[in-house]
Amino acid sequence: MDKNKNEKMEAIVSLAKRRGFIYQGSEVYGGLSGTWDFGPLGVSLKRNIMNLWWKMFVQDREDMYGIDAAILMNQKVWKASGHVDTFTDPLVECNNCHSRLRADHLLKDFANDSHGLIHEEFSNTLESLKSNMDTFKPACPVCGKQDWSEPRTFNMMFKTHVGPVDDESSVSYLRPETAQGIFTNYKNVLDSFYPDLPFGLAQQGKAFRNEISPRDFIFRSREFEQMEIEYFIDPANWETEFNKWVGLVHDWTDALGLPAENVHELEVPEADRAHYSKRTIDFEFDFPIGREELLGLAYRTDFDLGNIQREAGKNMEYTVKGTNTKFIPHVIEPSFGVERAMMAVLSAAYTEDEVNGEKRVYLKLPEHLAPVKYAISPLLKNKPELVAKAREVYDILKKKHGNVMWDDNGNIGKRYRRQDEIGTPFCVVIDFETLEDEAVTIRDRDTTEQKRVKITDL
Ligand code: GAP
Repeated sequence: MDKNKNEKMEAIVSLAKRRGFIYQGSEVYGGLSGTWDFGPLGVSLKRNIMNLWWKMFVQDREDMYGIDAAILMNQKVWKASGHVDTFTDPLVECNNCHSRLRADHLLKDFANDSHGLIHEEFSNTLESLKSNMDTFKPACPVCGKQDWSEPRTFNMMFKTHVGPVDDESSVSYLRPETAQGIFTNYKNVLDSFYPDLPFGLAQQGKAFRNEISPRDFIFRSREFEQMEIEYFIDPANWETEFNKWVGLVHDWTDALGLPAENVHELEVPEADRAHYSKRTIDFEFDFPIGREELLGLAYRTDFDLGNIQREAGKNMEYTVKGTNTKFIPHVIEPSFGVERAMMAVLSAAYTEDEVNGEKRVYLKLPEHLAPVKYAISPLLKNKPELVAKAREVYDILKKKHGNVMWDDNGNIGKRYRRQDEIGTPFCVVIDFETLEDEAVTIRDRDTTEQKRVKITDL
């Protein structure tokens, strides 16, 4: 990986921690690998992203229904869906230091570090991983030895027991995708709302994967959040519907403020597709860590509803209104990761420039995503008349926008730097003139320009 890119990632991680966006999970006890806690600004940014998604894909559309299913589900769900048998990653163990790592990641890093090899050349089937591990013998990133066990499959679902009996019948799993909660509710929504095809069910919520090697900040963690849609269609139209979703995904990345030239479509080859998919496009983003998957779009056919019909013995067919035509709908699935969206937004927003000969770091967040939209400051905090007026302005804006911060710490220059670092688009300063003319100074984060604006025009 190029050094500048590494440095940018480190700068983002450090800013995220310092300014209260993202902390290591269980940090006071030494941390828990693959878990992250969101601080006051992180949770705001995350909610803004999730609310934007909900608005774009549920509230603004007539053909979409939101649901919120339980995280714990009957173990039969995961047997029927294929996750018990096939939701695995390829694990290898270093025979020297016993570190357990993902074979495909070792080979990918090896390819990235070695001139002339591109990681897409490696297929992820166990056979081909075995032979590539033998041929290339990547060095262990922990001890440097090149002595590996054979790759084997490792199931990524967290297993647990529901209820007081600890036997096979009480086994359940923390869901590794939110999608199954949608499939199991398809019939309920169909019976309550009688929608015409095509229609979609959308859900946001936690997903859990016991990743072999969580890494790259919030990019790959063991507990994360997904926003998923299962869009039910007539199979005759699958290509048209798939292509529509390609366009909608780009609308989403535009709404996140991600530069279009940094978003790429990767057609996933058959050997690397999930067990349920007939076509998958991974939407990749140029993160500071390199070009990596931001979200996925898959044509899941009738795999899941077909499994439910067979295993649960319940009819999953859709009847075309006014006819006797019945079929199990097929599904297009756009699947979005919240943390990856956050990491892309932070990466795209992170900017360094110079103001009055001094280096400045700021987050050029789109206004609708910024955790704080307005920071309100009295010019001097020891002048009661300024503080009282500033409080008045704060109350007005707080009522109107909610995401408004009171900031009277340090001098004005320091306040600007601090607000720049958290991506606040506007700083509002109340000074002695305000008491005369009922106008305030508004400073723009990106241009650093200042304007006088009447309080009533804010
Ligand atoms: N239902 C389909 C599904 O879950 P996936 O490609 O395995 O597909 C979808 O996951 C999205 O969830 C990914 O594109 C990514 O944004 C996010 N995601 C998956 N694993 C993740 C992890 N370990 N940490 C953070 N986000 C993850």
